[in-house]
Amino acid sequence: MSKKIDVAVVGASGLVGGELLGLLEARKFPVGRFLPFNSGRTAAFVAFKGKKHLCRKPVFSELKKADLVFFVSTDEVSGRFAKKLAGSGVWCIDDSSRFRLDKNVPLVIPEVNAAALESGGRLIAGPNCTLTGAAVALHGIHKKFKILELRIATYQAVSGAGKGALKQLEAELLYYFKHGRVPELKGRKFPRAIAFNLFPQVGGFDGNGTSVEEAKVSAELKKIWTSPGLRISSTAVRVPVLRGHSLSVWARTSRPWTLASLRAALAATPGLQFFGNPYKYPTPLDVVKTSGVKAGRLRAAETSPKEFQLWIVSDNLYKGAALNSVEIAEYLLDRGLLVAPARVRVF
Ligand SMILES: NC(=O)c1ccc[n+]([C@@H]2O[C@H](COP(=O)([O-])OP(=O)(O)OC[C@H]3O[C@@H](n4cnc5c(N)ncnc54)[C@H](OP(=O)(O)O)[C@@H]3O)[C@@H](O)[C@H]2O)c1
Repeated sequence: MSKKIDVAVVGASGLVGGELLGLLEARKFPVGRFLPFNSGRTAAFVAFKGKKHLCRKPVFSELKKADLVFFVSTDEVSGRFAKKLAGSGVWCIDDSSRFRLDKNVPLVIPEVNAAALESGGRLIAGPNCTLTGAAVALHGIHKKFKILELRIATYQAVSGAGKGALKQLEAELLYYFKHGRVPELKGRKFPRAIAFNLFPQVGGFDGNGTSVEEAKVSAELKKIWTSPGLRISSTAVRVPVLRGHSLSVWARTSRPWTLASLRAALAATPGLQFFGNPYKYPTPLDVVKTSGVKAGRLRAAETSPKEFQLWIVSDNLYKGAALNSVEIAEYLLDRGLLVAPARVRVF
């Protein structure tokens, strides 16, 4: 058995891909051969372990050379390759939304539901970056007091929509400082201007006026917590923050609590840094490139008995995507599930 894992990254030239490479290197993941891929539309080089690597367009025969493939590109690309690769023995960790709700694919945040990784399937999905904060921060309280209803307002960073979205913000800011007004750019990534603005739309709307992001928050959180009866209402809002998604949450529980018991549950929640001092709280700038989730401003809500409020922030590119995927891979590795087979290599 080789101890090195041959790793492919599909979407290596993207925002999540860039963070993923940095994390694999910084956390000393035992990468053997490294295979980066991009759309192939432009020649892109990525740096990994002191070397520059040219990204190529993914094809099945090349991806199959890897022991582990991280998918950080698009739903379409994941759909084209991931299930087939997993079926042929390659481990696939997918950050797109393509398989998150597939009943045969575990949707995993290791500190919340690592047990789902023992199911044996080689395709694993990582959740949407917005609900990750709530899934981690409220998990301990949910186990102890059973959350029945969640109301969530999100404040989502521009980087959550990829590098094209950051370019839109940058172009609008440059225009503003030159011309004194925010432009209506042609072919922009977002439906509205984002510089000095915000809008309650993340993704398209369905027939009921619910956005794609709001639907994901609800469906994926229920799956991760295995709580189909949980009721969730959210409004997803894009804000001109570069990095770090924030959530304002109202949660109503089944069992009674005191603020002291909620504080104790939050302090003991894995992956969460809880600000017990009611006058201190995390902001997006505080979570950039930090692991885990931060929360503060815990208080009882006036609207309903057994309802409390919490402010939650996490780095969408780290815990919301790249870090969570690397943690899944590390979990598989630590338990001897992810091993490179001894084989004759024909490269
Ligand atoms: N951004 C976040 O906070 C976040 C959080 C959770 C999950 N995700 C998910 O992670 C994935 C990547 O997001 P991102 O923000 O990193 O996007 P991004 O910055 O736009 O990067 C997208 C990457 O995918 C590549 N790509 C696009 N089309 C491709 C194709 N047909 N074949 C191969 N590669 C292709 C791009 O290559 P080029 O450079 O050639 O265009 C680029 O490397 C998405 O599925 C997203 O939903 C993102």
